[in-house]
Amino acid sequence: MFQTIELAPRDPILGLTEAFKADRNPEKINLGVGVYQDASGKTPPLGTVAEAAKRLAEANGSLSYLPIPGLAEYTLAVQQLLFATDHEVLATGRAKTAQTPGGTGALRVTGDFLKQNFPNATVWVTDPTWANHPGVFQAAGVRVEKFPYFDRQSNGIAIEEMLEAIGKMPAGDAVLLHGCCHNPTGADPTADQWQQIADAVYGQGLLPIVDFAYQGFATGIEEDAAGLRAMVRPGEEMIVCSSFSKNFGLYCERVGAVTLVVADADQAAVVESQVKRVIRTNYSNPPAHGARLVAMILGDDTLRDQWQEEVATMRDRINGMRALLVEKLTEKGLPGDYSFIQKQRGMFSFSGLTKDQVHALRKKHAIYIVDSGRINVAGINERNVDRLTQAMADVVGK
Ligand code: LMR
Repeated sequence: MFQTIELAPRDPILGLTEAFKADRNPEKINLGVGVYQDASGKTPPLGTVAEAAKRLAEANGSLSYLPIPGLAEYTLAVQQLLFATDHEVLATGRAKTAQTPGGTGALRVTGDFLKQNFPNATVWVTDPTWANHPGVFQAAGVRVEKFPYFDRQSNGIAIEEMLEAIGKMPAGDAVLLHGCCHNPTGADPTADQWQQIADAVYGQGLLPIVDFAYQGFATGIEEDAAGLRAMVRPGEEMIVCSSFSKNFGLYCERVGAVTLVVADADQAAVVESQVKRVIRTNYSNPPAHGARLVAMILGDDTLRDQWQEEVATMRDRINGMRALLVEKLTEKGLPGDYSFIQKQRGMFSFSGLTKDQVHALRKKHAIYIVDSGRINVAGINERNVDRLTQAMADVVGK
C-alpha cells in the first residue's frame, strides 16, 4: 500500500530547519523558524524556567494523568494572563480553558471543535498568515479562505479592505486574527482599529478566533493583550489559542491553551464538554511538565516578576537587532527605505524580499528565511549581521 503514496512537500517553516541542518556551509545562518536566540546565537532555558524545573524535580510529584482539560492551576493562570485577574469573564465563569500541546494543538482542537459543531463554517485567515494556519484547519476538514490584511505599499494594515471583506463574510463563519505581533508581517491593528474590527466581526455574526503566541514581544505582557481584550464583549463569544513557546522559551515542552469565551457560565459548561470530547479522542489529555513550570512561575510573585524581566530582555534584544539591521542595510546601499522594519512588532521582519531572492539567499549564501520573505530577527546578532546584509544586497542586485 505504501508504494502508492507520494512524497509530501517539506513544511515551509520546520522544513527549513531540516534543510539548514543538512547544509555543510560553516557560515550558514538560520533565520527561519521563530525561536529566540541570545546574542551568542543560543537558546538556553530562561532562568525562571530553570529554577522552576529544579523545584519540580525536588518535589518529585506524581506522573499520573492530568484531567482532560489539563492542570487547573495552569488554566487559571492562562485566563489571568489573557484577560487580567479582575476581568468579568473570570468572575462570571463564562470562559473555559483547556491546556493543549502548544498553540498549534490549540488551533487543531479549535478546528476539530468547529468541524464537529459547525460543519459548514469557513475559517477566514489574514493574507498573509502563519504558513501552518491553513493546513491545521484543513486537516480538521474545515474550509479556509483569505481576507486582505496587509498593505505592501505602506507596510501597515489594509484596514478599509479588511473591514469591507469582513462585512461580506457569511454569518456563522470564523475569523482568525493574531492577538499581537502578526506573523509574518509584524503589523498589528491600533487600539481604534481593534474596536472597528470587533464591531465588524460581531456585527456580521462571526466568531473571532485569536491566535496569541507572542504576548510580551511587542510592548509588554499587559499591553500586548489589549487587542484581545478589545474583542471581549458582554454576551459575545470568541476563542483564544495561546502559546507559551516563545514567552517562556518552552518550545519543545508544547505548552499552549485553548480558551472559549461563551455567553454565560451554563453554556460554557456545555461547550467545555465538547472540547473535552475533542481532546479525549485526539491525544487524551495533555503532557504535564511544561504546564507545571508555567503554573509555578506565574503563581510565585518573585518568579513572575523575574519572568517579566526575562521577556523584556528578549524583546529589547530583538528591537536592538531591528535597529542594527536597518542601519546595516542602509550602510550596504540597498535601495529604498528600510525604516519600516523598526516599526514591525514581535519576532519577525517581513523584509519584502521576493521568493526568488529568498531562494538565492539559501542557495548562494546558506541563509535560511521563510519563502514569504519573513526573517527571524531574534536570530540576528553582531557576528552575522554583516554577512546577512551583504547577502541581501547581493540578491536584490545592489
Ligand atoms: C514560526 O512561525 O516560526 C513558529 O510559530 C514556529 C512554527 O511552529 O512554525
